[in-house]
Amino acid sequence: MTFARITGTGSDLPEKVLTNADLEAMVDTNDQWIRERTGIRQRHIVAPDEATADLAERAARRALEAADRRVGDIDLIIVATTTPDRVFPSTACLLQQRLGIHGCAAFDLQAVCTGFVYALGVADKFIRCGSARCALVIGAETMSRIIDWTDRSTCVLFGDGAGAVVLEASDEPGVHSSHLHADGHYSHLLHVPKGVATAPGEVAAARTFVEMKGNEVFRVATNTLGRIVDETLAANGLNKSDIDWLVPHQANIRIIEATARKLKMSLDHVIITVDRHGNTSAASVPLALDQGVRDGRIKRGDMLLLEAFGGGFTWGSALVTY
Ligand code: COA
Repeated sequence: MTFARITGTGSDLPEKVLTNADLEAMVDTNDQWIRERTGIRQRHIVAPDEATADLAERAARRALEAADRRVGDIDLIIVATTTPDRVFPSTACLLQQRLGIHGCAAFDLQAVCTGFVYALGVADKFIRCGSARCALVIGAETMSRIIDWTDRSTCVLFGDGAGAVVLEASDEPGVHSSHLHADGHYSHLLHVPKGVATAPGEVAAARTFVEMKGNEVFRVATNTLGRIVDETLAANGLNKSDIDWLVPHQANIRIIEATARKLKMSLDHVIITVDRHGNTSAASVPLALDQGVRDGRIKRGDMLLLEAFGGGFTWGSALVTY
């Protein structure tokens, strides 16, 4: 039986750091409110001439190096992003060109903050059924481009970044299972209300931004993530104590703490980056994973629970032996 295993991780953050103090000068907010309600202290923001593919490329090259793979080994590229460089070609095709890869399948996947978990689930299925052997799976976002920097209820929450993994065919797992869900019924609670087909002029002028009913999103996210933890453990016949590391989507420290409580897990076993990265949407889970791997906390053989929740609503999880 063929499984898919993560053989390398990489990530990238833009150079510019925007602190809560910087935001105090931009909107009516304060460091204490942001830290207490979200856990965020700072976030990284792209330069005017940087875009999603730049972050994705740097993260991908670092993941390839960590996996000791060359670009020629890659036979599938999936980029999870809500903020593609262009309407088309996909960011995955732009990345493929930059890496000098020709011919393999390359596509973007849009599931907002759950994007990377969706992409990992899809790549796992490609590998399990023999359609790919060595995939680049990336979450990359420039959320700062779709944020209204005069809206204090959203602009303090998001940041830019990218994370990547190399996922390879292996005799041993790997990805044990992935659980992907969506319910479009909730689309109005967290959305960018216009798009290329509904308001092309405004999109071209970048006058359409993230809108969110924060406390309603918070409530559904907390309940839903609790349920997906149960679903993932039950599908694999595991107990809470079998999980070594929780690698959660980084939207809000209070949502992360609620999921950790559900797992009866101390925060010492949760990879937390929200304080330094903010919510980087599809990039947040692979950024946290790379952080945990590179600082030596996550070791080969550890059992990881990856989970995310986002606009759509979408939500998902993956159980992975690293
Ligand atoms: N600075 C200061 N005050 C702010 C503020 C800011 N940046 N943003 C909102 N407020 C104010 C509100 O205006 C409100 O004031 P009022 O009581 O006078 O009307 C008050 O703070 C409380 O607002 P509320 O939205 O109820 O706060 P909250 O405790 O729900 O926290 C979030 C807001 C956004 C931090 C929280 O709801 C959240 O994290 N939601 C989930 C977000 C999320 O996960 N999104 C992505 C999913 S991928």
